[in-house]
Amino acid sequence: MSQPTIESILQEKRLFPPPTEFAQKAHIKSIEEYKQLYEKAKADPEAFWAELAETELDWFQKWDKVLDWQPPFVKWFVNGKINISYNCLDRHLTTWRRNKAALIWEGEPGDSRTLTYAQLHREVCQMANVFKQLGVKKGDRVGIYMPMIPEAAIAMLACARIGAPHTVVFGGFSAEALKDRLVDAEAKLVVTADGGWRKDAIVPLKEQVDKALVAGAPTVENVLVVKRTAQQIHMEPGRDHWWHDVQKGASGECPAEPMDSEDMLFILYTSGTTGKPKGVVHTTGGYNLYTHVTNKWAFDLQDTDVYWCTADVGWITGHSYIVYGPLSNGATSLMYEGAPRASNPGCLWDVVEKYGVTIFYTAPTAIRALMKMGEHHPNSRNLSSLRLLGTVGEPINPEAWIWYNRVIGGDRCPIVDTWWQTETGGFMITPLPGATSTKPGSATLPFPGIIADIVNQEGESVDGNNGGYLVIKHPWPGMMRTVYGDDDRFRRTYWEYLRPKSGEYIYFAGDGAHKDDDGYFWVMGRVDDVINVAGHRLGTMEVESALVSHPAVAEAAVVGKPDEVKGEDIVAFVTLEGDREPNEDLEKELKQHVVQEIGAIARPGDIRFTEDLPKTRSGKIMRRLLRSLAAGQEIAGDTSTLQDRSVLDKLRGGA
Ligand code: WT7
Repeated sequence: MSQPTIESILQEKRLFPPPTEFAQKAHIKSIEEYKQLYEKAKADPEAFWAELAETELDWFQKWDKVLDWQPPFVKWFVNGKINISYNCLDRHLTTWRRNKAALIWEGEPGDSRTLTYAQLHREVCQMANVFKQLGVKKGDRVGIYMPMIPEAAIAMLACARIGAPHTVVFGGFSAEALKDRLVDAEAKLVVTADGGWRKDAIVPLKEQVDKALVAGAPTVENVLVVKRTAQQIHMEPGRDHWWHDVQKGASGECPAEPMDSEDMLFILYTSGTTGKPKGVVHTTGGYNLYTHVTNKWAFDLQDTDVYWCTADVGWITGHSYIVYGPLSNGATSLMYEGAPRASNPGCLWDVVEKYGVTIFYTAPTAIRALMKMGEHHPNSRNLSSLRLLGTVGEPINPEAWIWYNRVIGGDRCPIVDTWWQTETGGFMITPLPGATSTKPGSATLPFPGIIADIVNQEGESVDGNNGGYLVIKHPWPGMMRTVYGDDDRFRRTYWEYLRPKSGEYIYFAGDGAHKDDDGYFWVMGRVDDVINVAGHRLGTMEVESALVSHPAVAEAAVVGKPDEVKGEDIVAFVTLEGDREPNEDLEKELKQHVVQEIGAIARPGDIRFTEDLPKTRSGKIMRRLLRSLAAGQEIAGDTSTLQDRSVLDKLRGGA
């Protein structure tokens, strides 16, 4: 049988229906069942979520009111008392799951560890007690800056257990970026490790923490350090404590604090259109319910699954779908420290084979990188345990989808393309794998309870085929509650950018999309000044501020340029201070400077020195023109608002 070509698949607009056998055993078994759930939720969202909250979660005290919606501020399960660590741990201990693997962990050097629910519960309790001894009280914030080791999840759950909101900072962020986040969150404690393994090298995490604290994060009183890589590090007497030391005397019992449903569970920083990252606030009850139900239905989580999400716990994907969603469901969640690297490009497939992974969830950029490495890596491992695949982070190009489906999924695994955001807490538009026929490149249909629409600049619904802004029209339990310390920014960014004449509040977080005749959503990407590099969201302003903080730089404009593997790469147009001359050394220095200010994920692929930047008469940089230049395209569209047209010729000449 000959392989269908991508063209033939796309031309036929081929649908990939759920395999019959998969559908028969799935939680949601047919498109009719999906439609029923969708209509039921649409007709009475409060009753829909209340019923699930009752059947899926354990509450210490029931709520008085399901939803309190004072746009744009929302409360779910008002006066309900709950603890997410209890739902992720304690309630499984009285069932057969007590000795089921909760976390399976594989370190990059090949060491490994499995924690059952009972073992995980014990370690979480111990750390919760340690946190208390270190003076952390309910409501205090804890910074977590960790490699992908079980202690990262333990620290998160320990925070949740005592009601201390965590703010996890991705281990790839620089000391400077870490400091900014610790300062904004006013963290009292930082949990870190001496280092982590990544691509056969040590990421010196503790060293970065030391730098961040020297640079100034005055609220931090204690630092807890896991010994992972065992190189020499500085331990500040009185401030720094080894995890294994303090763990020794700590009791393995610690009752879960009854939290109000609306108590803050965590802050997670994400990029926006200004230089300052936003602290996205998620609360307890609604988030627990939403991650639980979306994980269960969209990944069809079953007790026999070995579920692996390759994200880092430093991103929302790691929060919702490595830690909270799977554990709340009593699932087995796999955590991997490493990444495909020269010494073992096939390491992911080794892990699938070793543990018999059944569900595998990763990002399009990773799939494209794996495609480049060649099929012989997956082909030489046994991947027959896999039954479901997922993607997230950016629109997946059909070539990558088809490869993923054939080479990894062996043409038998449904693919769930999940569209969501840090702000939404969980999946918003996604197939349900036993119900939804998929189309390569489409995230398909809204999750039950999610009212998604496409609108124009006036906030009015448009014929989806034409495309427009992707918005959500009714509150959902997993939604962010505010920007930490900045209600006004929350209101302006997400709720007032598009205001229909009706005055109704609709949620918009920056994506453009269109809908096809089957009502399937096709997300086109960001419409704001946010770029998506290898599945990581970066604000152009953030990179610009980093560049401008270098003494040689006068002005900078940053845009995304299409990249085969990363999706987008960063191109920076830079003008220099009068006495500086562009040269290669300076280019290297500026790239390194951005790495120092933000982290390696923000390193510009290309820096283009220019005498001037194209601006409107009011002084706004015309990024649209720069984007075309960066992509090597002709400049199309209106240039009449350009203040000085000669700038374009100079840029073309210089580029
Ligand atoms: C942005 C959110 C949600 C976890 C990972 C990223 C883009 C995400 C998809 C998808 C098309 C996607 C959007 C969104 N995005 N998933 N399946 N199809 N685009 O979280 O950093 O909050 O970024 O990622 O542009 O707005 P994030």
